[in-house]
Amino acid sequence: MTMGFKRILSSLTLNYLVATWTCSLICSGASTQFQKAEENVKALLKGQFDEKTMGDMFHPEEVEGWPLEEYDLGQISGVDVDRSGNPIIFHRGTVIWDAGSFNETNHYQRQEEGPIEEDTMVVLDGKTGQMLASWGGNLFYMPHGITIDHNSSIWVTDVALHQVFKFTPGADKPELTIGKAFQPGTSNEHFCKPTDVAVSKSGVFFVADGYCNSRIMKYSKDGKFLAKYGDEGWIWMEGKGSALAIPHSLALIEDEVLCIADREHRRILCINAGLQNPQQFGQIVSVTNGVDVGRVFGITYAKGRLYAVNGAGSSPAQTQGLTLDWKTSQVVDTWTSGRSFISPHDIAVSPNGEAIFISEIGPNRLTKFVVTPTALSSLYDNSVYEQ
Ligand SMILES: *[C@@H]1O[C@H](CO)[C@@H](O)[C@H](O)[C@H]1NC(C)=O
Ligand SMILES: *[C@@H]1O[C@H](CO)[C@@H](O)[C@H](O)[C@H]1NC(C)=O
Repeated sequence: MTMGFKRILSSLTLNYLVATWTCSLICSGASTQFQKAEENVKALLKGQFDEKTMGDMFHPEEVEGWPLEEYDLGQISGVDVDRSGNPIIFHRGTVIWDAGSFNETNHYQRQEEGPIEEDTMVVLDGKTGQMLASWGGNLFYMPHGITIDHNSSIWVTDVALHQVFKFTPGADKPELTIGKAFQPGTSNEHFCKPTDVAVSKSGVFFVADGYCNSRIMKYSKDGKFLAKYGDEGWIWMEGKGSALAIPHSLALIEDEVLCIADREHRRILCINAGLQNPQQFGQIVSVTNGVDVGRVFGITYAKGRLYAVNGAGSSPAQTQGLTLDWKTSQVVDTWTSGRSFISPHDIAVSPNGEAIFISEIGPNRLTKFVVTPTALSSLYDNSVYEQ
C-alpha cells in the first residue's frame, strides 16, 4: 500500500467518524446520498474495492485560488508533473502559433526571428504555484509537448523545428535529438510537427507525429527506430481502425497499453504498446468516442485512472475534463473549472495520482485539481452538515 493511499484512508477514517458523529446529532432519516457515501467509505475502509471501483469513486475538484500568484507566461502548450508533485510547464513566451507561422508545406516561416529568448520550461511549486526554477531559453521556436520519464529526464517536442529532444535532469543541452531541424518529412528520420512523447520504464519510447503525418513512431531507449503505427496519412473524420487525425497527446498505461488522443477523430484510441511482445504493437484495445468526448487535446494516466481534456471546438461536448475507463471505453466522470475552460491544451497527473493540472493556451494559465473520493465530496456537499 502506497503512502498516498494510506493518507487517503486515514483522512477517510477521520471524515467518516466526523460525519457519523455529526449525523447522530442532526440527521433524522439519512439521505440516499449519505447512505451511498457511507457505503462507499465503509467499503473503502474494509478494503473491499478494486482498481475500477476506486477509479469511479475518485472525482477531481478544482483548487480555487491556485496559483497564489499570477505570472506572465506565453501559451502553455505542455505540462507534466515531477516526482515531487511539482508541475513543469513548457510555454511559448512571446511566440504565438497563427496562420502565418507555417506555409502550406509545413515549413516554419519565422526562423529568422530566432529561438524564443526567455526560459520556456518552468517548474512550479505544486502546493502554492510559485515559480521554483526555469531554463530552456534560446533553444526552441514553437514548444508543444513535455513528458517527464521514470528517471526524471525531460522530453519535449517543437513543432517548428520538427524535432524531439531528451534532457537528462539538470542538463541544458539535449542528450538525444530526433528529427531534422526545420525539415518536415515523412521518412522514418523525419517528423512533421510532432506533438508528444510517452516513455516506458525500460526507456523504449513513442512519439506522436503529429499534425501532418498523423502516426505513432516507436524507438529503442537510445533512439533507434523500431516500428510505427497508423502511418496512413491524414484521414479526416473517418475515425475507424488505425488511421489517425492529429494524434495530439499520448499516455502509457502500466507499460502495456498506449492511449492516443486522436484529436480530430474526437476519440481516445488505446492500443497494445508491444513492450512485452513487440508483435502485438498496435492491436486495438479500446476506442472511446462518446458524445462527451469532443476534440481531445490531452490525456494522462496514473494509479489506475486515465484522464483527458478536450478543447476549443468540442461542441456539442462541453469543454471539460474527462475520467475514462479505458477497458470498457466509457467516460465515467466529467468535470470542469469554475472559471470555465477556454482553450485547454494539455493535462498531467502527479505520479501519486493526487493532483491534476490542465494548461491552456489563451488565456495562458494552469488550473489545479485534487482527486477526492466521491464518497467524501458527497459528504461535504450535503448541506445538512453545514447547519
Ligand atoms: C515553404 O517554406 C520553405 C522554407 O521557408 C520553402 O523552402 C518552401 O519552398 C515553401 N513552400 C512553398 C509551397 O512555398
Ligand atoms: C532509468 O535508468 C535505469 C538505470 O540506468 C535504466 O535501466 C532504465 O532503462 C532507465 N529508464 C529510462 C526511462 O530511461
